[in-house]
Amino acid sequence: MKIILIGYGKMGKAIEQVAVDKGHEVIHTITSSNKTELNPDLIRKADAVIEFTRPDSVYENLKLCIDAGIPVVSGTTGWIEKLNEMEQYCLQKDGAMLWASNFSIGVNIFFEINERLAQLLAGQNYQVDIKETHHIHKLDKPSGTAITLAGKFIEAGVYQGWSLENEKNKLPVICERKDEITGIHTVNCISDDDRILLTHEAFNRKAFAKGALLAAEWLQGKRGVFSMKDVISKS
Ligand SMILES: NC(=O)c1ccc[n+]([C@@H]2O[C@H](COP(=O)([O-])OP(=O)(O)OC[C@H]3O[C@@H](n4cnc5c(N)ncnc54)[C@H](OP(=O)(O)O)[C@@H]3O)[C@@H](O)[C@H]2O)c1
Repeated sequence: MKIILIGYGKMGKAIEQVAVDKGHEVIHTITSSNKTELNPDLIRKADAVIEFTRPDSVYENLKLCIDAGIPVVSGTTGWIEKLNEMEQYCLQKDGAMLWASNFSIGVNIFFEINERLAQLLAGQNYQVDIKETHHIHKLDKPSGTAITLAGKFIEAGVYQGWSLENEKNKLPVICERKDEITGIHTVNCISDDDRILLTHEAFNRKAFAKGALLAAEWLQGKRGVFSMKDVISKS
């Protein structure tokens, strides 16, 4: 595949390394200093665009790719409130997009187990909290992954929302920013008699990069809005 990387920071560079190792070609990279180069003619030279930037630029970047008719994979977090609008736009324009709060295959397996755990805990006497720990450079809080995990307990009716504070009926999310930690997520469920702990720890960014590339390969020739759940279950 010919790939354009929008965002050439920690993730963009990790994706480039994995892409080149797999025989793909990165034909252009975009950062905040050359973002005016991103136009439909450039985008149409690629088979896929992979976008890892910032919450304030992701919407316009994805819109440009969808308008150009090129499949786009995005992992930018911290903009979940506009995700649904973007997905509707993609469907209207018959585009192809795949966004994931976390591209690691391990985390997506963890998501499946978490979903089942949330369903099983509905109606049981457990208090749940989610703790996420990341490096000090992370801009958003809580992580997109923690929001995805909490969402399954909300869908299952265990909580009515999530909160960074201690609010009644809301699932507490605890965020820690420490050193260069890639990402640790723990779902902690306590009853009077026992505890269930579910933890995922990423050792490096390669796990996210591999997943993002797998998603871009999988998206070739497809139209619609997809998630990593689709990639894992149908690849
Ligand atoms: N979904 C996942 O699996 C996953 C995994 C890890 C991280 N993430 C998320 O991915 C995002 C990027 O993370 P990162 O660690 O790579 O961040 P980073 O190292 O800060 O890199 C961000 C990149 O985006 C560029 N950028 C900023 N504004 C831009 C714009 N308007 N147009 C084009 N490029 C722009 C930056 O360019 P300059 O340096 O020139 O400003 C930089 O190259 C974050 O939201 C992070 O939370 C997701």
